[in-house]
Amino acid sequence: MAILLRTAAPVSRAALRRRFQTFTIPQIQSRPASTMPHSVPKLNDPSLFKTDVAYVNGEWVKAKSGKTFEVFDPSSGKLIGTAPEMDAEDTKKAIDAAAAAFPSFRTTTGRERSKMLRKWYDLMVENSEDIARLITWENGKPLADAKGEATYAANFFEWFSEEAPRIYGDTIPASIPGNRIVTIKEPVGVCGLITPWNFPAAMITRKIGPALAAGCTVVAKSPGETPFTSLALAELAHRAGIPKGVVNIVSALKNTLDVGEVLTTSPIVKKVSFTGSTGVGKLLMKQSSSTLKKLSFELGGNAPFIVFDDADLDTAVAGAITSKFRSSGQTCVCANRLLIQSGIYDSFAEKFAAKVAEFKVGGGYEEGITHGPLIHDRAISKVDAHVRDAEKKGGKVIQGGQKMPELGENFFQPTVITGMTTDMALSSEETFGPVAGLFKFDTEDEVVKIANNTEVGLAGYFFSRDIQRIYRVAEALEVGMVGVNTGLISDAGAPFGGVKESGFGREGSKYGVGEYQTIKMITYGGMGQPLQK
Ligand code: SIN
Repeated sequence: MAILLRTAAPVSRAALRRRFQTFTIPQIQSRPASTMPHSVPKLNDPSLFKTDVAYVNGEWVKAKSGKTFEVFDPSSGKLIGTAPEMDAEDTKKAIDAAAAAFPSFRTTTGRERSKMLRKWYDLMVENSEDIARLITWENGKPLADAKGEATYAANFFEWFSEEAPRIYGDTIPASIPGNRIVTIKEPVGVCGLITPWNFPAAMITRKIGPALAAGCTVVAKSPGETPFTSLALAELAHRAGIPKGVVNIVSALKNTLDVGEVLTTSPIVKKVSFTGSTGVGKLLMKQSSSTLKKLSFELGGNAPFIVFDDADLDTAVAGAITSKFRSSGQTCVCANRLLIQSGIYDSFAEKFAAKVAEFKVGGGYEEGITHGPLIHDRAISKVDAHVRDAEKKGGKVIQGGQKMPELGENFFQPTVITGMTTDMALSSEETFGPVAGLFKFDTEDEVVKIANNTEVGLAGYFFSRDIQRIYRVAEALEVGMVGVNTGLISDAGAPFGGVKESGFGREGSKYGVGEYQTIKMITYGGMGQPLQK
């Protein structure tokens, strides 16, 4: 997910508003302080931690209303700080700043933009320890994972800094004698970027990197649960000399829908990129229709993870651990349905569960912790509901299966369930948590049908050593991304995105920059005529 629980069902605006409003009520504040074992981070550069301000037109600003919202550490339940509760008016100001900056920024050369992005990248690398600490603090993921995310996030700036000077058009042979056709790629304009909490750094750099490479200016809405990492990135943008108004970051929790509405309906904003749930994506698309914006949406998934009898068992188990339990299952490309062929099912289940039993769950700053908390209590409720539903319908929990109140309200045991069937909730809904349900299948045809029997199609994985099967199944899966004999497919240079109700458009890679450009065709007439004597 992301901005909301990932759900494919269309969600009414009123229902979304009710859900956001519950975000203002910290659900874990009642836990006595004595049971809070987690420490707060010490930053090498405390000025990266910005509270009560957002970044608009190169300045640190408060919400006009003066309102703020609270952000809580998902591990300890303690208050981290407050961020500005910006509204429609604040967002319009940020859009105006981005619009004012666009005419000059669009005329910078690719090389100039490359240098800016490179500088920002260098500063991210220099400050990666602090970025990681902020990520762990507000998102909960273990520090080692957060360091991985800080690097992953910076990679988008590095990759797009290299792409910025390489934006080429075409020369096309014309059918009309004397005509010459060329294309040039132009920045689309002001872009609205809406990013999720599950990768507080990487999802924003994945959008800002290509936007700036193309010559666009942006207004990014930081995630309500994790605003502080984006604000640290804004501070680094400032230090990198990104011109004022080119990058604007607004924050909101309760007003998230109002900010989203302004970004999607403003005639000044020419493109919206959103990562989040399919339900919210549908609402944003509807709102964007009034101005026919260019859109790219990365929405919910229900990733099949298939292990064929001929797979290398250890490779498949390692891939499943990575794919299912990365960020405690809170990525949109996490394996959701583990489909294991009957001949290898028992040995896979045994080895996999044994590995899961070795995980160490706890606060992200603690030594040796492999898995942290989930983001909030609603995530815990969903995970718990999927486990209980599976049990009720005959599934067997062979590892974990319970909440972990001794650690905090947002902790859940990494769980493995065997005997899964397609009537269970986990089969059709994205769990977005640390629950691995193992389904048994017999034939390739059968498993491809099961894998594709969903409205969404983001990522899919399979493990096999049969080269013909590898080609066949990779091509048959109805998804935007396939991992073959690997559980990790994310890479700044790879096109990331889905098909079906998982959205459209690609992020990262040479295709990512195209999402922020328009192609202009120019026909020159009367060219190539003989020279007049
Ligand atoms: C996501 O969960 O939306 C992104 C995951 C990734 O980039 O690997």
